[in-house]
Amino acid sequence: LCLQFEALCPEGLCPGWSVIVKGEPTSSANKFEINFLCDRDDRVAFHFNPRFAESDIVCNSFVSSRWGQEERTTIFPFEAEEPFQVEIYSDDENFNVFIDENKIVQYKHRIGDLKTITKVQVINDINIASVEVARKNFY
Ligand code: GAL
Repeated sequence: LCLQFEALCPEGLCPGWSVIVKGEPTSSANKFEINFLCDRDDRVAFHFNPRFAESDIVCNSFVSSRWGQEERTTIFPFEAEEPFQVEIYSDDENFNVFIDENKIVQYKHRIGDLKTITKVQVINDINIASVEVARKNFY
């Protein structure tokens, strides 16, 4: 586990915020992750996990000490050393993921207390150019 970026937003990141990650997969990228976490416990509200060997993006949540049902896309727009932008925007219902401005994933919230989602982190095989956390809507 190689932490590349982490930010704490005590007021909560969800709903109404966008996290925009610009970067590129490393030259021998195997996988990376963008995680939305509940900082007070071990829950992962949203795990966004491109896996290069499988050419799949795996999405899931870690709740009650275990991973839930995976949601996978077969669209895999990432390539080693090719710059990309991922924007993850949360509304009341979903995490919405845009890759280079194309909507790729809609992931329905699995945790009830959205306000407890206070941490975002980026892990593993990515060279980050920037991470932006921006408020898009007021709830
Ligand atoms: C597991 C993996 C976790 C996470 C999870 C998602 O196999 O160890 O890191 O990616 O799948 O379902």
